[in-house]
Amino acid sequence: MNAEATTDSPLATGADTVVVGVFEGEDVAHDLPGGALAAMLESGEARREFKRLAVTHADGTRVILVGLGDRDKFDGERGRVAAAVAHGRAREMGARTMCWEVPHHVSDAVVEGLVHGTLLHAYRFERYKPSEDSRRVGRLLLSAHHDVAEPVRVAAILAGAQNRARDLGNTPANDLPPSALAAYAEESAGRLGLSFSALDEGAIREAGMGAFAAVAQGSEESARLIRLDYDGTSGDGPLLGFIGKAVTFDSGGLSLKPPGSMHEMKFDMCGGAAVIEAIAALAELRAPVRVLGLIGATENLPSGNAVKPGDIVRALDGTTIEVNNTDAEGRLVLADCLSHARREGADRLIDLATLTGGVVVALGSTYAGLMSNDEAWASEVQGAADRTGEIVWRLPLHQEYAEMIKGRYAQIVNSTTKREATALTAGEFLHHFAGDAPWAHLDIAGMAYDVRRSYYADKGATGFGVRLLVDLARADAGQPAGE
Ligand code: BES
Ligand code: MN
Ligand code: ZN
Repeated sequence: MNAEATTDSPLATGADTVVVGVFEGEDVAHDLPGGALAAMLESGEARREFKRLAVTHADGTRVILVGLGDRDKFDGERGRVAAAVAHGRAREMGARTMCWEVPHHVSDAVVEGLVHGTLLHAYRFERYKPSEDSRRVGRLLLSAHHDVAEPVRVAAILAGAQNRARDLGNTPANDLPPSALAAYAEESAGRLGLSFSALDEGAIREAGMGAFAAVAQGSEESARLIRLDYDGTSGDGPLLGFIGKAVTFDSGGLSLKPPGSMHEMKFDMCGGAAVIEAIAALAELRAPVRVLGLIGATENLPSGNAVKPGDIVRALDGTTIEVNNTDAEGRLVLADCLSHARREGADRLIDLATLTGGVVVALGSTYAGLMSNDEAWASEVQGAADRTGEIVWRLPLHQEYAEMIKGRYAQIVNSTTKREATALTAGEFLHHFAGDAPWAHLDIAGMAYDVRRSYYADKGATGFGVRLLVDLARADAGQPAGE
């Protein structure tokens, strides 16, 4: 869907469907001729409560009146939800062009939220099964008295990137092995003027990334360490390292997962997808930032060649690791990516990974888990999370968790025998490789797919993290978005 700003009044745009919001304790800013909207509110047919919808017509134009609730509470996130609800009704009624009348005196974050909510709600994954319902809203207009072209442009780029990350997540493992993910990244890099490179499995082992290579060796598909570089500066300023777990299929390896929900493990590459599309969005925005992206792409499969429980491997930084559970593979991949990012000069690191079931038990599908060794960097991440609605909850690092991964036969183990604090010991494992560089880890296992939130109407991958990463990079460079 195409999104554009206009200063024309909604009824003058030619849109077949106009959306008007109304806050608690206020009247609609511009009523229809004859006061039709006020009358609907008066009669109780329309309500000001958040997400309430009512529909009327004026001169052949459909008008959806949406309750926005309290003005004080109406932020970007509520904008996304309101827009999703309105889009759902508009599509159902066969709308082709929608025009939102942007409420008066709202921030750019709200304008962006209206665009995100509409575009995210309109997303459908149709690569293998076209929807039987052909109704589509093809065009979105945002009408305001002032010029909202910039927030609309930014939001459309972000929602587009997030929806592409959803496509990557939803694509099954047979059609998106590591080589295909690398080819995809290379193609976007070519289009956007990013620099791209990739190491194949032989080169990964050759480079000394024994932890990453151990995960990769069980599969016939060759792994890839994908690298994307974006520089929107004159070569100065901090270099941000974005690291993504892209296990294109996680069977658990020889420590095989139960079959019930194994199919969900095609989503185990969503951290990597978010990194690829966040960097693409930064390039589209020409953001004045420097980012090094590393995406660790591999399958995790059992085979005659697979890493075995008890095997000891040597990571890029020389650490010896006893692999006592082959299903704790993400941290092995990320360990070498973190060391590599540090060697390549990244000043601050953030990794995104569907890392543990434990974080889903703790936080469900509301917050991603945040772990960090640096207060200033953690609060920057927290700020980006709050501004984008991709919210995070800080989880602790502690010396006692670090003790729990100390090994008997090797320096560390990749999984503890007791099923306690699994998200936290996984975080401590990564902490070992981040060392004292400012680092943040987002465990997105609960957020990457099947999240119940109104704008993720099409179940499956959410593209979580794309907007957070982009906001983080822009804010770090002194260019925060909206709100
Ligand atoms: N990819 C999984 C984590 C996961 C679980 C993601 C559920 C999304 C939904 C990860 O590789 C894994 O298997 N983690 C194990 C680690 C354990 C063996 C220490 C887990 O959390 O159970
Ligand atoms: Mn696993
Ligand atoms: Zn995994």
